[in-house]
Amino acid sequence: MDLSRVLPFAKELLEKVVESGGIAVDATVGNGHDTQFLAERVGENGFVYGFDIQKDAIDATRKRLQEEGLDTRVRLFQESHAHIKEYVDLTHHGTVQAAVFNLGYLPGSDKSVITKPGSTITAIEGLLDILMQGGLIVLVVYYGHVGGQEEKDELMNYLQGMDQSKAHVIQYQFLNQKNNPPFVLAVEKKK
Ligand SMILES: C[S@@+](CC[C@H](N)C(=O)[O-])C[C@H]1O[C@@H](n2cnc3c(N)ncnc32)[C@H](O)[C@@H]1O
Repeated sequence: MDLSRVLPFAKELLEKVVESGGIAVDATVGNGHDTQFLAERVGENGFVYGFDIQKDAIDATRKRLQEEGLDTRVRLFQESHAHIKEYVDLTHHGTVQAAVFNLGYLPGSDKSVITKPGSTITAIEGLLDILMQGGLIVLVVYYGHVGGQEEKDELMNYLQGMDQSKAHVIQYQFLNQKNNPPFVLAVEKKK
């Protein structure tokens, strides 16, 4: 067998839970690869919320979605994911199937704009309130940049301490790759 690489593994997890007609969240839109993936997955009767603090990321993703004919099933916010819970419609609370994060900076853009542990953890807490039971939060953790190690450490500390009656948490990582290889964390809200 071939062990899945990190990004395909993250997608495989999302595919298990995001269904046609569902609700999903891209917490770090960037250039919109995951937003597009989620929008295709939920189909024309589903809905995706996307968050990024950078205007360029929101603009690039809006253009991508328009070109693909997916823009009507996605709402994009130039806003921190710390506020996800406030922006997701009340009628969708308790029904969100999955959320995805790509931590770090947007490749090819300002490397000083990075995800931060405080807002990442606030976002996870908000998401746990609005996910359906059995819903999933998938995080791809890049930590080789300045500030990345701190975010990784705080996040791991938070997730390792999470009440096991609330959620299952897993880590998927290649242990023998060089140069801070990214890894996947997944948080499943318990049924
Ligand atoms: C690794 S990139 C995401 C890549 C993206 N998944 C893609 O397909 O291109 C991380 C993104 O997180 C965004 N970001 C940083 N802090 C954020 C926050 N507090 N809330 C939402 N997005 C944030 C950055 O602006 C950047 O675009």
